[in-house]
Amino acid sequence: MKLSESTWQEVESYLAKCPGILIPIGSTEQHGPVGLIGTDSFCASAIAEASAEFSNALVAPPICFTPAQFNETFPGTISISSSTLMQLVSDMVHSLARQGFQYFYFLNGHGANLAPLKAVCHDLTAEFSRRENAAKIRFRIRSWWDYSETDSLRNQLYGVGEGLHGTPSEIAITRAFLRRVKAPSDLKAPPPLTKSFIKNHAGDFHLDADHHRNQFPDGRVGSDSDKGSASDGQRFLEVAAKEAASDYLEFLEES
Ligand code: NI
Repeated sequence: MKLSESTWQEVESYLAKCPGILIPIGSTEQHGPVGLIGTDSFCASAIAEASAEFSNALVAPPICFTPAQFNETFPGTISISSSTLMQLVSDMVHSLARQGFQYFYFLNGHGANLAPLKAVCHDLTAEFSRRENAAKIRFRIRSWWDYSETDSLRNQLYGVGEGLHGTPSEIAITRAFLRRVKAPSDLKAPPPLTKSFIKNHAGDFHLDADHHRNQFPDGRVGSDSDKGSASDGQRFLEVAAKEAASDYLEFLEES
């Protein structure tokens, strides 16, 4: 059930049965020569919506503007600061909590969202728990590529070519339901990332935008993006949707 395509009465009936909500969160940033700017938001939304078929979750509209300072010199990227994202999430949670929502599951599609999301969830948990008689609120944050079967499928299909950005898996997902951008004829697989690069830059903890563009001139970070096909994307959607649904239901149970 999509929040934006529901009436308030439908949301009220949903709330009487379940105080949980699934919130997709992506980005608006360059994804290399064959990746669409909205890739992260498209992936998070598509998986969230497909998973709701199994879990009956209410799915919020995606959060599409998020921090991506390292991609800011690539045209089309819109980056907001981490503090803006934290304020936005805090306002969303306050607004929904006032109506009775308690369990917030963020389905993430962009590494740089993780640190600010965790920080604001810590703050909100503290704030609500200090209030007298306040309803308990709970959070879970998951990146779709971390679901175990989805992660195995990434490894199995692309190995080191998965890389970190403009990944063939995310490109595959968008190709399952959006246009395929034809690769430039001279596009080659980028050199694989070193273990220490991956360790030091996990969660999109990259250096400044000028440095980043110099280091990765076509925008891909170790990813052989064009390997991702529409049929792979269909498989990812099926596997990730089922895993997202069972993780969401487990979260409700734990909460
Ligand atoms: Ni991405």
